[in-house]
Amino acid sequence: MTRGLFLTFEGIEGCGKTTQLNRAAEWLAARGRVVLTTREPGGTALGQRLRHALLHARENVEPGAELLLMVADRRQHVLELIEPALAEGTDVLCDRYIDSSRAYQGAGRGLGEAAVDALHRRWCPRVPDRTYLFDCPVETALARVARRGGAGIDKFEREEIAFHRRVRTAYRRRARSEPHRFRVLDASGTPDAVFARLEKDLEALFIPRRPRATRRR
Ligand code: TYD
Repeated sequence: MTRGLFLTFEGIEGCGKTTQLNRAAEWLAARGRVVLTTREPGGTALGQRLRHALLHARENVEPGAELLLMVADRRQHVLELIEPALAEGTDVLCDRYIDSSRAYQGAGRGLGEAAVDALHRRWCPRVPDRTYLFDCPVETALARVARRGGAGIDKFEREEIAFHRRVRTAYRRRARSEPHRFRVLDASGTPDAVFARLEKDLEALFIPRRPRATRRR
């Protein structure tokens, strides 16, 4: 059995990655691939509880504790869901993964990427086959978040603009340092325009492979 491909979707708040992930999943399923879509934090039952603590709980979570909780969520997610799916040939599309911790906790919170990488080496060594970075100016992305608005605004979305700038800069730096894994897609256009760019890369990744039966989750 051929292993599935592990694709991750990254970017600052409001970059539109979740919309693109869903479109990519539909695109793949329509071509006969077996697809699992998931997200971090919160891809497992334990992860749901951690997600609530990380994004919506009232207590102040210290930055190092925040990093450890993100990695705890990831460890559980990788072992419980991601690895078994990949092993049975399912393609896994994950909304945020290791690069989020590098960008948000490493750069945004100032913990340093070395501290983040040390934890990943020990607890989550699986590296994605492809990472899409949806990149656009912080102002454009935050304006989208503000329009979305409502009670759904989480702790990270309320951070100051300098925080989001550090996150964006860290993402772009990481993408430059791993050009084989990353594809940086300009996320400032319409969803259709962004997907047209994503589709080109999906074609390059998947078309040479033999299609299989569909199973959606
Ligand atoms: P997400 O559900 O992607 O929120 P949004 O839809 O607003 O993009 O992610 C939740 C938040 O968690 C997001 O603001 C980024 C943050 N986060 C980290 O800080 N570190 C991490 O390792 C992960 C996975 C997420």
